Amino acid sequence: MQILKSTEELQIYRKNIQKKVGFVPTMGALHNGHLSLIDRAKKENDIVIVSIFVNPTQFLPGEDFESYPKKIEADIEICKRSGIDALFIPAINQIYSKDEPKVCAPKVLGYTLEGYHRPGHFDGVLSIVLKLFNLVKPHNAYFGKKDAQQLILIKKMTKVFFLDINIVECEIVREANGLALSSRNTYLSKEEKKKALNISKSLTNAAKLIRSGQKDVKLIKQEIQKHLKSLEVDYIAIVDRDLKEIDQIISGNSIILIAARVGKTRLIDNIWL
Ligand code: PAF
Repeated sequence: MQILKSTEELQIYRKNIQKKVGFVPTMGALHNGHLSLIDRAKKENDIVIVSIFVNPTQFLPGEDFESYPKKIEADIEICKRSGIDALFIPAINQIYSKDEPKVCAPKVLGYTLEGYHRPGHFDGVLSIVLKLFNLVKPHNAYFGKKDAQQLILIKKMTKVFFLDINIVECEIVREANGLALSSRNTYLSKEEKKKALNISKSLTNAAKLIRSGQKDVKLIKQEIQKHLKSLEVDYIAIVDRDLKEIDQIISGNSIILIAARVGKTRLIDNIWL
């Protein structure tokens, strides 16, 4: 595995590859969710490139940029063992300069749900993803469904900027107890982890309800709310795949999204129906 630290090293490495390239962008603190993206990328491409970059522009003032879990030595080992071809770990000054153009998230899609609670977050996500896409020039790029709105916005950006990149949607990976894997789970105490389980439980319960015939979004939301009483809920949303609110579940075109705080930790989870 090659470790590439500068954009120049990455660009030279990339120029010499004629084969199919798969790309997994990450912010590090790698877990099995990331490994599932890497495994899929390995199956579907000749060369796999992973990036680790804690992107400052997607954190709002007061958020956890400084304390975001950093485990670079362990991450390098994980990447080596996973059999990827190259790991890109740039310093901030390799990626950003002062007063530069940035990508703006769309006014509606980028400022609803996560974008409402974290205004400007998606400007940062789209800017870094576009930069990384231009450096890595992947054929396929892999993103988890857990960050549903991020995934939908990246697909949209790829389409409207005519990028010749296939965005691959990957399933959420969960602990055996249902908790969706996230680098931020490391912030949770044992007690908080127990509380956090109510989020995935509420989603599986809603899915069960829907399978039994309930399609009414208002009633489904009320059921979810019952499970989340002990948490500070930012939103429970039931939307279609364009993130538009719906009244009735449309099978194959609905997502239930939850954002909630457990102690100081903000968690998101969702289920695609
Ligand atoms: O999902 C993430 O880890 C980040 O938002 C991403 C896509 C790597 C951009 O920084």
